[in-house]
Amino acid sequence: MKDVIVALDFAGREETLRFLEGFTGKKPFVKIGMELFYAEGPAIVRELKARGHKIFLDLKLHDIPNTVKKAMKVLSSLSVDMCNLHAGGTKAMMEAALEGLTREDGTRPLLIAVTQLTSTSQEAMEKDLLIGKPIDEVVMHYARNAKAAGLDGVVCSPLEAGKVHDVCGKNFLTVTPGVRFADGEKGDQVRVTTPAKARELGSDYIVVGRPITAAADPVAAYERCVKEFLG
Ligand code: C5P
Repeated sequence: MKDVIVALDFAGREETLRFLEGFTGKKPFVKIGMELFYAEGPAIVRELKARGHKIFLDLKLHDIPNTVKKAMKVLSSLSVDMCNLHAGGTKAMMEAALEGLTREDGTRPLLIAVTQLTSTSQEAMEKDLLIGKPIDEVVMHYARNAKAAGLDGVVCSPLEAGKVHDVCGKNFLTVTPGVRFADGEKGDQVRVTTPAKARELGSDYIVVGRPITAAADPVAAYERCVKEFLG
């Protein structure tokens, strides 16, 4: 189901709760990333879950298959709704992750793969990682691997969502950051699209941080986002 995910890029619990207090009655799907999780630990996940939020735990796991499997088992027990890992950890690691994530009753959170980080340039990929192929080809290859391993989707730019769907099927989820309002600040994001354009391009979930968290009226900005993206 398509939705807007609000990136809670805050340093701690108090700031996070202050931000969410404005949303009386509404319970946005939220993303907890490394900063907030490392500061507050699993308690912040339990607390926001208990308040009725759906949670994307963005910890981007990447380790040997056995370690990732065990770590995913712990994340699954926190009842998060979505979590992620690096596709670069190989298909074996992704399969192990899915195994660890699956609960005894067969249910599990959605599992999404990061392909190549958007901060990685073609040049860095060639020089630092010794990967000589065009970055688009690498991204689609990793997406195919994620799909073959049984994952639910990938994190990508809204501009890549259409191609990912062509390659991996329309039910393979695209979770897309890099979203800005037409009249808003771009910040450090380079290739951005509006929520309406992301919808047109076929994004399944948009991840939106500063256009909502730094807005003068975050609730109005969230509602605008939802209206533009979900129609
Ligand atoms: O504030 P902004 O809307 O740029 O926040 C986007 C969120 O999505 C941040 O939490 C950022 O870390 C995350 N993200 C991203 N680009 C990626 C992967 C994740 O912006 N390729």
